[in-house]
Amino acid sequence: MKKPFVIAIDGASSTGKSTLAKALAQALDFVYVDSGAMYRGVTLYAQQKQWLSSKHFDQDTLIANLDDIQLTFKNNKLMLNGSDVSAAIRSMVVSNAVSQVAAVSAVRSFLVAQQRAIGTQHNVVMDGRDIGTVVFPHADVKLFLTADANIRAQRRYDELKTVDPSVTLDAILENITQRDHLDSTRADSPLVQATDAVAINASDFGISELLSHVLELVKKQM
Ligand code: DC
Repeated sequence: MKKPFVIAIDGASSTGKSTLAKALAQALDFVYVDSGAMYRGVTLYAQQKQWLSSKHFDQDTLIANLDDIQLTFKNNKLMLNGSDVSAAIRSMVVSNAVSQVAAVSAVRSFLVAQQRAIGTQHNVVMDGRDIGTVVFPHADVKLFLTADANIRAQRRYDELKTVDPSVTLDAILENITQRDHLDSTRADSPLVQATDAVAINASDFGISELLSHVLELVKKQM
C-alpha cells in the first residue's frame, strides 16, 4: 500500500490552524484530525471524574485510567466514550486547564500513539503543537502558523460567544497568552517550529488566499 500523505500544521492557539486544516482536508479529500481536541477531551474526562479542578489535579489517577478514555472523530465532532463533546471541550473551564493535562507525558504518549495510528492508515491533515516535530517528524508538508495575539483573541471570541455568552475578550486574551507560555515552555514536546516547517503569518492572508497558497505548496510535494 502507498504510504499515506501527511500534512502537519502547528502553531499557537487560535492562529487559524483548524480553519486552514479543515479547508485543506476538504479540498484534498483527506482526513482532518484536530489533535488539540483530543487533549481537551482528556481534560474534560478528568474534570467529569473530579480528578481535575482549579484547585487540584490527581495526575496519577488520570494516568492509571487513561485506557478508559475512548476518543473518536465523527464528522469532525469529538466523541468521548460515545458522546459528542465537541461543544463542551471549548468551554473556558476546559481551556483554562488543558495545558496542565497536555504537559503530562503519559497523556501525550497515549494520544500520540492514536494520532500516529490515524496517520498510518489515511492521508491526513493534522493540526496541533508537536505534529511536525514529534508525532510525524517525516510529514510530507509541515506548516507553522503564527498570528497577532489580538487577532487570535478576537477570532476565538467570535467562535466562543455563541456557545458561551458570558465569555469576555479579556479573559480569552489572558487564556491564550497563558496557554502559549505553558505550551512552549513545558518539558515534553513543547511548541516549537520544526526546522523544516514553512512559517506562515496567518494575519497576512484571508482564508481563501491562505488555502490556495498552501495548496500550491502541497501539490509540489505530491
Ligand atoms: O489547539 P487547541 O487550542 O484546541 O489545543 C488545546 C491545548 O492542547 C493546547 O493549549 C495545548 C495542547 N496541545 C498539545 O499540547 N499538543 C497538540 N498536538 C495539540 C494541542
